[in-house]
Amino acid sequence: MATIPFIDLKAQYELIKDSVNAGIKRVLDHGQYILGPEVAECEKRLAALAGSKHCITVSSGTDALMAPLMALGIGPGDAVFVPSFTFTATAEVVLLVGARPIYVDSDSRLFNIDVNDLARHVAAVKKEGTHRPRAVIAVDLFGLPADYAALNKLCEAEGMALIDDAAQSFGGALHNKRVGALAPITATSFFPAKPLGCYGDGGAIFLDDDALLESLVSIRVHGQGRSKYEVERVGLNARFDTIQAAVILAKLDVFERELDRRQDVAAQYTKALGNAVETPQIPAGYRSAWAQYTILSDRRDAIAAALKEAGIPTAIYYPTPMHLQTAYRQYASGEGACPVAERLAKRVLSLPMHPYLESATIERICEVVRRAA
Ligand SMILES: Cc1ncc(COP(=O)(O)O)c(C=O)c1O
Repeated sequence: MATIPFIDLKAQYELIKDSVNAGIKRVLDHGQYILGPEVAECEKRLAALAGSKHCITVSSGTDALMAPLMALGIGPGDAVFVPSFTFTATAEVVLLVGARPIYVDSDSRLFNIDVNDLARHVAAVKKEGTHRPRAVIAVDLFGLPADYAALNKLCEAEGMALIDDAAQSFGGALHNKRVGALAPITATSFFPAKPLGCYGDGGAIFLDDDALLESLVSIRVHGQGRSKYEVERVGLNARFDTIQAAVILAKLDVFERELDRRQDVAAQYTKALGNAVETPQIPAGYRSAWAQYTILSDRRDAIAAALKEAGIPTAIYYPTPMHLQTAYRQYASGEGACPVAERLAKRVLSLPMHPYLESATIERICEVVRRAA
């Protein structure tokens, strides 16, 4: 039996090979490997797609989170609120700038930050008085935007910055606004497995604020000032490679079609799985980018074992919430601090998801899940 890839980048490459190869060759011919013309073109197309005034590309999704924290001057004495149920980068950047991460619980069916729990934590930090509530990094887990109506309202009322960690959700939307325009600052990742991925590391920041953009442009190149060797602030080497920009440009030509295909794949999964497991919920007005199709079940491990037996790969995103990680647990009160995240970690299972997944394969996967569930 043919093995099923979890994400099929080969099938995609077969389709876009000519434009990818031609784009890379153009870069090799002109030789502007650092911040070449493809980078600016990529930023222009990405901003237009997202509906944001600016887009600045960077070297990874992690740097896309880190640079705005630096530009906002967030550091020691500041509290930054993050969902505990996320990838490590969301929490890591907070500690890298010297701020204090505050882990917030998630919604049990949407996987995203629970805004009521967030409000409780903000109030508790204010009461404690040792740290200033400065920012929230909301994560659009598995591709589904978080509740930005509630998040924007809370952050405005509390005078906090709001960063959308859209590493998994570029291409998603909320009430006709695309990811990139849902929060004042959005950070995405072009890691190869993301809905819009390059062939290495990369990322981008979306924003409308001109002054903040200026700071980010400087931070991206070692805190450079107006002239090349003037150092205006502490920065990073966080440039997006020109060759990777050429890859993104080629992939943008098929991106919308791929997003539609992801919706179809998700719909077929949901229909075929029925009530055998808990399937992802998409509230009215939301569009997921479907980075992952993640089911919930008390029989998660048995289902994963049955799928493995049938040659079908699965993944657990994420087995341990951030507040229980060795590197981060000192900033939380241990087991029980985020009960929903802890339960999700025991019950989630992500199935193969990509735009080139065929109907017959989805049916085969669902049959194994139904039997094992
Ligand atoms: C939620 C989330 N945030 C941040 C990142 C970091 O992105 P990158 O791997 O491009 O640094 C990822 C990537 O895996 C992610 O899933």
